[in-house]
Amino acid sequence: MSYPITRLRRLRRTPALRQLVKETILTSNDFIYPIFVTHGTDIKAEIPSMPGVHHFSLDRLKPEIDAVVASGVQSVLLFGVPASKDAVGSSAYDHNGIVQEATRKVKEWAPELVVIADTCLCAYTDHGHCGVIHHDPRTGYAEIDNDPSLALLVKTAVSQAEAGADIIAPSNMMDGFVYAIRAGLDEAGYENIPIMSYSVKYASAFYGPFRDAAHSTPQFGDRKTYQMDPANIREAMREAEADVLEGADMLMVKPALAYLDVLRMVKENFDLPLVAYNVSAEYSMVKAAAANGWVDERAVVLETLTGMKRAGADLIITYHALDAAKWLRGE
Ligand code: PBG
Repeated sequence: MSYPITRLRRLRRTPALRQLVKETILTSNDFIYPIFVTHGTDIKAEIPSMPGVHHFSLDRLKPEIDAVVASGVQSVLLFGVPASKDAVGSSAYDHNGIVQEATRKVKEWAPELVVIADTCLCAYTDHGHCGVIHHDPRTGYAEIDNDPSLALLVKTAVSQAEAGADIIAPSNMMDGFVYAIRAGLDEAGYENIPIMSYSVKYASAFYGPFRDAAHSTPQFGDRKTYQMDPANIREAMREAEADVLEGADMLMVKPALAYLDVLRMVKENFDLPLVAYNVSAEYSMVKAAAANGWVDERAVVLETLTGMKRAGADLIITYHALDAAKWLRGE
């Protein structure tokens, strides 16, 4: 017998053969598109560190929602940039808060579009943390106070569900947040609203551009007492398990690119739908390199998103969603 017997190139010979043996097929159904909404009028302002991503006031939002629907992407994730901030993030759970208002609008314009509300306090607190602060008079230390924060997150989630959000996506990383929000939603009559938990969320430098966009940079300290250490993966399993036991409907790993091993391990250990968050700096790095002509944006984005799906993502939250959907249609 002639050597080699195994010739892997046989199945790579033509585009049609390659298509037949393709293992991972990306579609626009895989994407969740994040949108930043803000108070005010006539605002469509590009975020400098995220070319192609904008803040929208509600009177300028409709064309963007139309574009989402036209693209075939089925869901959006709403982030609010509120008019005012305070120590307890009141505008996060205001009936007329920006995400609540935007949710009502989007559900009116496109009832079939799945609206996911990010449930956190960091964009709404004047100190920029995801929970409330407790100043310990003995140590002089300021700590993020877990349990009092839960009550505010529950109020936020309930007000978002009341506004019509289809999925609640808590991203705050307080202990017990899934259970608290599940109980709060049930009690308010929203027992059928699922929770997409940011289960495994790392204290990452890859959120930099998002914090410019959401004006949510912590004013002191960092998020390391609640978000995870990038060095840890066994702890990620504990985070995911806690959320499953607390009633999460979907799990998430965030960021995605530097954590594909974590994504894979969550996938192998849990059967819930799994979401990867292709975060802001992952987006901005590609945009910067592409703007310099150093990479082919389309090819790099589709390869990256395919990699996330191959690693185990059932869904991908990505700022590239509309472009990727267009490229997948062959435009
Ligand atoms: C809120 C939140 C953040 C992101 C999503 N929700 C920022 C953070 O935790 O600092 C980051 C998203 C991105 O970088 O694209 N807690």
